[in-house]
Amino acid sequence: MKIGIDKIGFYTSHLYVDMAKLAKKRNEDPNKYLIGIGQEKMAVIPPTQDAVTLAANAADTILTEEDKEKIDLVLVATESGVDNSKSSAAYVSELLGLKHNIRTLELKQACYAATAGIQLAKGHISLNPHKKALVIGTDIARYGLKTPGEPTQGGGAVAMVISADPAVLALEDASSYYAKDIMDFWRPLSQTEAMVDGKYSANVYLEFFEQVFHDFQEQTGLTLRDFTALLFHLPYTKQGLKALRLAVENIDPTQATKYFNEFEASRKYNKLTGNLYTGSLYLSLLSLLENSDNLQAGDRLGLFSYGSGAQGEFFSGILQENYRQHLTNKTTSLLNKRQEVSVAEYEKLFNSVLTNEKNRTLDTTSDPATYVLTGIKDFKRQYQKK
Ligand code: HMG
Repeated sequence: MKIGIDKIGFYTSHLYVDMAKLAKKRNEDPNKYLIGIGQEKMAVIPPTQDAVTLAANAADTILTEEDKEKIDLVLVATESGVDNSKSSAAYVSELLGLKHNIRTLELKQACYAATAGIQLAKGHISLNPHKKALVIGTDIARYGLKTPGEPTQGGGAVAMVISADPAVLALEDASSYYAKDIMDFWRPLSQTEAMVDGKYSANVYLEFFEQVFHDFQEQTGLTLRDFTALLFHLPYTKQGLKALRLAVENIDPTQATKYFNEFEASRKYNKLTGNLYTGSLYLSLLSLLENSDNLQAGDRLGLFSYGSGAQGEFFSGILQENYRQHLTNKTTSLLNKRQEVSVAEYEKLFNSVLTNEKNRTLDTTSDPATYVLTGIKDFKRQYQKK
């Protein structure tokens, strides 16, 4: 039985900051952000959006009434959770109007958790082939103003329906994973911004990629040539480029061109959004599917998932017949409709995020999203479907 991604949808906020303008304000050469980091625009998430609303807005782009009837597992992967106990998946399922006889759970392992969600959902569907699972990666990447990590922020969510006979990507059974307790990136419970050992994190990411890609090839007998494209977790797009350079270093440069071309298609949306943490690899997948002219049904894609702390996984999937007809193709218009904010406005929004307040009402009039956070009452978050 084939199991995999049947639908995939994306949401980010209606605001962004221009990276060249941010670089100038930080006394950096714009090319450091545009080329050295590989980012052009960065999503700015207003206080009226959080991990729950971003997730609900992403899922809303793909779910039909029939999906809602069949979904009995909801896994929300996030490291931007809004409560230490209550799962984001509980809020999201209710906002989306899903049934109550379902399992809902929040998953955490930094940027890796959506991959865990997909693999767990695959197991669930193999036991329950007539059901569907909803897996969402949703996050707001925050490092702090004027820190080295600042140009690698961003935010948004990717929602995926996992089912039997998937319309988009059938997952293959082989998978290689690697875990180690390290301190490359972490966020203590009291902090709203991540702490990071930046250069170390970038190096560990590459080490984990080499480890799991090598293990995958040993396990399956497949080699790079068996893949049409490789996809990477993209904390910033230059990081994926570095991993791809390692992957192709022993092949003929003319053959390597094909992988670099697919990589350009796969980083297009990420360049315009920034780090989504859990959703980044899957936004890159969506970017490849919607922007590559070369892909065909039957092509094998390789996916590298990385979450600091750290967990890596390499797995693969086969593109399905007519997959193009099952894409929403809403991403370009979503990104084009966004409004630019100045660096000063971005800083103000960054500092106005809801934290540990007991009561606060938020003005949602300028937020065009369907699902918004209207405030907090007695420490209970208040959500609304507009
Ligand atoms: P930095 O120290 O300010 O930057 O921070 P840099 O000096 O290393 O420069 C960055 C690149 O720009 C370099 O290229 C420069 O040469 C180049 P590289 O050596 O990397 O190839 N550069 C220029 N290029 C063109 N024109 C110029 C120019 N000037 C410089 N004029 C750093 C960079 C990424 C370390 C920082 O932004 C950071 O700490 N970011 C956060 C950490 C991160 O994203 N790590 C990635 C791996 S860990 C991961 O992926 C997990 C994560 O997503 C979290 C999770 O799992 O939840 C982060």
